[in-house]
Amino acid sequence: MIVVESARIADAQAIHELVTHWADRGDMLHRPVAEVYESIRDFKVARIDGEVVACGSLHIMGPDLAEIRSLAVRENVQGKRLGAAIVEACLEDARMLGLERVFALTYRPGFFERQGFRLANVMEFPQKVWNECVRCPFFTDCREVAVVLDLGGKDEAVPVVQAVDRSS
Ligand SMILES: CC(C)(COP(=O)(O)OP(=O)(O)OC[C@H]1O[C@@H](n2cnc3c(N)ncnc32)[C@H](O)[C@@H]1OP(=O)(O)O)[C@@H](O)C(=O)NCCC(=O)NCCS
Repeated sequence: MIVVESARIADAQAIHELVTHWADRGDMLHRPVAEVYESIRDFKVARIDGEVVACGSLHIMGPDLAEIRSLAVRENVQGKRLGAAIVEACLEDARMLGLERVFALTYRPGFFERQGFRLANVMEFPQKVWNECVRCPFFTDCREVAVVLDLGGKDEAVPVVQAVDRSS
């Protein structure tokens, strides 16, 4: 059975291993396990029979912008729309939060274009470039491509718990 849901703290090691697998091959940036724990609430995972086989995170960058990071699907289950499902789960959160734009820096721009993103200039995201990219060892020779999806930020948040007015 395939389930896509928010990550739990017990998933952090499996997420770290998945990201490390692709980072070692140069497909994404490494994320120290401590950073995975710190940002576990940002992560979505896909499980097959309970085992984490894909992950990705939505990292808020500012009042109108979030980044999809650490999108990784285990090699033997690629092509089953798990990557697309993780992106959609991140976008659902972004819409619920009222964010206007979601971007990614990626070596797989074609995948993101299939999910509705458009190619962008990384300088559309100066907060990313001047806060984080400048500290990256690949800053002067970055081959990642920026992609962005405009959400409009108009969707209203769906209350999880309906408040009850007992004053009257
Ligand atoms: C890129 C990656 C996340 C895609 O995940 P996936 O589960 O294999 O892809 P999906 O099955 O969800 O693909 C959804 C759609 O995107 C297309 N697609 C997948 N990878 C693609 C690529 N590299 N280029 C163009 N299109 C791609 C699929 O054909 C499919 O198209 P469809 O809507 O016409 O059916 C996965 O291959 C991966 O983890 N790669 C290694 C790590 C990596 O590069 N991560 C991205 C860094 S940001």
